[in-house]
Amino acid sequence: MKLATKVSVTLVGVLLLAVLSSAAALLSARHIGRLMQDMVEENLSSVRAAEELEIALLEQRGFVSSYMVDGGNRAWLEELNRRKPAFRRWLDRARETAHTPEEHEIVSRIAKVYQDYDARRDEAIALYERGDVEKARTVLLRDMNALYDRAYALCEDFIAANERFIESRIADGRRQIQRNTLTVGVCVSLTIGLSLGLLYLFFRGVLLPLRKMAEDARAFAANDARPARPESPEDELRAVGFYLRALMSDVAETRSSLKRSQDQLMNAEKLASVGKLAASVAHEIRNPLTSLKMRLFSIRKEIGGDPQYEDDFRVVSEEITRLESIIRNFLEFSRPPELKLRAHDVSALIDKTLELVGHRLEERDVDLVREDGLRLPRVIADSEQIKQVFINLIGNAVEAVEEGGQVRVSTALEVDGGDRWTVVVRVRDSGPGIPEAIRDRIFEPFFSTKEDGTGLGLCIAARIVARHNGRLELESASAGETTFAVRIPAVREGGA
Ligand SMILES: Nc1ncnc2c1ncn2[C@@H]1O[C@H](COP(=O)(O)OP(=O)(O)OP(=O)(O)O)[C@@H](O)[C@H]1O
Ligand SMILES: [Mg+2]
Repeated sequence: MKLATKVSVTLVGVLLLAVLSSAAALLSARHIGRLMQDMVEENLSSVRAAEELEIALLEQRGFVSSYMVDGGNRAWLEELNRRKPAFRRWLDRARETAHTPEEHEIVSRIAKVYQDYDARRDEAIALYERGDVEKARTVLLRDMNALYDRAYALCEDFIAANERFIESRIADGRRQIQRNTLTVGVCVSLTIGLSLGLLYLFFRGVLLPLRKMAEDARAFAANDARPARPESPEDELRAVGFYLRALMSDVAETRSSLKRSQDQLMNAEKLASVGKLAASVAHEIRNPLTSLKMRLFSIRKEIGGDPQYEDDFRVVSEEITRLESIIRNFLEFSRPPELKLRAHDVSALIDKTLELVGHRLEERDVDLVREDGLRLPRVIADSEQIKQVFINLIGNAVEAVEEGGQVRVSTALEVDGGDRWTVVVRVRDSGPGIPEAIRDRIFEPFFSTKEDGTGLGLCIAARIVARHNGRLELESASAGETTFAVRIPAVREGGA
């Protein structure tokens, strides 16, 4: 089962049980309350009826004997008659409030015995009034007293039965309370158990894996050179977030370097296949070109510097030179020469390059600006190859600007990749810039927008710089400020 399902099911269970236990507790409290109220109401009236019945019987006692002793004073009988209804009233009440068959039985027996007692009392009074005093006294002392004692004993029985009934009701109530308490207790225990289970699931399923992830990410970051530390390593979520961001930035970096490698690989493949063809073609052209040059030289010598043909000679000679440079490019491209590495001052290499291309700048009336930063450390380089890089970049810049435009060559020392000192040479021109659509393609071999361009200049330059462990980048391509930057690692102080 998925963790989310487990957690949801347990959570719903806990909620249901919590609701159930609250409802059970509430119902039980209400039930117990009602039970108590019923018990009090029911039993209070029955207890009262039983007690009052006994009192009413007691209050009737002694009037007949007082009547006789007082010489037939009827005031006693009147008083007796005033008290009699109270007994009847309480007897009715006792019948109403009797709960059990036993109590009903006792009440009917009380009524019966009382009836006999009343009849005997009337008989005694009648005998006394007829003058049969002796007989009246016998009835009073023998029959009436016995019946009174029976009625009284029955009243006591009634009270005892009543008490027994109340006790049984109280025991029922207790049992009910125990049952309710048990139900609520079970519900509460289950809620606590499930809550603990939920806590355990959360700990095992969420917190522990999170902590593990944070530790793994921390270990991963520790292998990395960068100082990666979260603000609060104790907080797993924040730590994971922190390392995840670090990982994502690593992945993005890796992806872009992969893309660069892919591009380079594609270019390399293109280079390899086209390079072979180029080399053989260049080889074939080179020999006829050399004999063409020789012939031109001997014809010129024969004609003897006739000004009429001088201009034609110059044009043919320039075209031959251009063809030679194209062939050189092709050959260099197909078979990159071995690097002859030595420590060089980059500014001096730039000066030498400018000596070579100076006439082209002058021809096109291009303004050249040099901007040298502080004294630069030297670089390990093949001077001829690096000069070739600068020639290609400055050549492109001169071709891009209008007449009267400007080319600026500047140098700087910058930190690259966190801790590497790098000498940076920037070639910037005031030309039209490079359209967005072709920016990705300018380093491809044979890509050119020029009629007579081979499209090899930037490709060769980039490869030379890469062989020097550096990078050639297009830093800006907007009109008026197209900038290419050559980055070559600087020689460490006291190193190389
Ligand atoms: N400074 C620049 N300003 C504008 N576009 C440029 C600049 N440098 C290069 N490009 C563009 O990049 C393309 C490729 O340049 P690259 O030097 O490789 O070849 P090319 O100059 O066309 O030919 P080649 O250098 O072989 O004579 C150019 O054709 C041009 O469109
Ligand atoms: Mg070029």
